[in-house]
Amino acid sequence: MKQIFIRGGVPLNGKVRIQGSKNAALPILAATLLAGGEHEIKNCPKIADVYYMLELIRSQGAVTYWKGRDLYVNTCHLTPGPLEEKKEGTMRSSIFLLGAMLGRFGEVVLEYPGGCVIGDRPVDWHLAHLHKMGTEFGDSSCQITAKASRLVGVEHELPFPSVGLTENLVMAAVLAEGTTVIHNAAREPEIAALCEFLNSAGACITGAGQADITIVGVNALHGGSITLPGDRIVAGTYALGCMITGGGVLLEGAPAGHMTRLIPLLHAMGGSTLITEEGIYLHRREGLCAIPYTVTEGYPGFPTDLQSPLLAALCSADGESAIEERIFGNRFRIVPQLEKMGADIHIKDNVAYIRGVEKLQGTTLKAEELRGGAALVIAGLGAGGETYIENCSHIYRGYENICRDLSELGARIYGE
Ligand code: EPZ
Repeated sequence: MKQIFIRGGVPLNGKVRIQGSKNAALPILAATLLAGGEHEIKNCPKIADVYYMLELIRSQGAVTYWKGRDLYVNTCHLTPGPLEEKKEGTMRSSIFLLGAMLGRFGEVVLEYPGGCVIGDRPVDWHLAHLHKMGTEFGDSSCQITAKASRLVGVEHELPFPSVGLTENLVMAAVLAEGTTVIHNAAREPEIAALCEFLNSAGACITGAGQADITIVGVNALHGGSITLPGDRIVAGTYALGCMITGGGVLLEGAPAGHMTRLIPLLHAMGGSTLITEEGIYLHRREGLCAIPYTVTEGYPGFPTDLQSPLLAALCSADGESAIEERIFGNRFRIVPQLEKMGADIHIKDNVAYIRGVEKLQGTTLKAEELRGGAALVIAGLGAGGETYIENCSHIYRGYENICRDLSELGARIYGE
């Protein structure tokens, strides 16, 4: 398993390039199966979740190749078959293929994607809303077997603005008969990226990024092309790393327009920012200030994926902070690890109450999942002494090379 070693206490300075968005890349790779053609996905991150999704679409006959940071996918000769979730199920990437496989082939077999440590991760809404469009499901308890001779456009009222559900319904709707309207859709920038890609392939989608999305079904799609936006969660993670250590950084390619809830928080914590076409310049002026209350919500609210990095940063802020996690049921997993570093946190009713301490102390830690692992890294950056984090392969699911990136900002960080 990968380990990371950090000698903390060094202010971050310099510039780092922000990778393309993981959560845009994954549904777009699934969407390539909807059309026979050559697709271009520029600025694609080279991360484990992308490599795993490539395995899945290659298992269906897609041919893929890289040119630098640009990924090309040829889906002219697909050979559809059962999708096998080879990993321990924590990737959950196969669920994003449900809508695309039904839309193109009218059938799909995949294993129920496993839950993960941050929550159960059910897929009941996906099955119910695809059923409304004409999909019939088998009754296996371990596999999802789905058939739809012809998907039919309907109106959906989502019970929650679920990101994956919105993406699956859009992909199921682009080749369906008639018009589909999705109410209470997720508004994440990754939805807009997926719809931009599908429209470049000949789809007819309006309202992406808003609460109501309309998709008029078409007969066929062709090759699509997109340049992925910068990853707002990776950019936010590194920004919070700078806040915990102090210093001044340029986050090249950071999508400031997708970070409208974080940027004011950075200012309230004692940071100042300058936004240019290069990205975000961030400088922490003086002390690190506490943030009284933050709630995680669907976009444009504060993203749940930055909850752990924010929690780590606030542990050494001056004052008392609180963060309420409203999206997932078990996303405070790093609290015991932060307490080992001397953090003062208590949890009540999915709210973390943090009393800032002078400085965390480095020790041996264990990563359990993607964003929590990244949060432990930035906690180590700001801690005194040395921090050693085990089980870091989770982090490489979403960060191309967190050690390389933070080293470019002057951190004393080493990892395999
Ligand atoms: C996407 O997951 C992201 N993953 C997650 O990022 C992100 O945390 C999440 O959206 C919320 O923003 C990708 O885009 C690949 P949801 P998704 O459906 O689609 C419940 C990361 O770190 N729910 O919006 O799975 C669910 O349990 C990952 O990059 C049901 O109850 O999230 C959760 O509580 C982690 N039934 C809530 O909805 C369902 O059928 C929101 O989940 C589906 C979801």
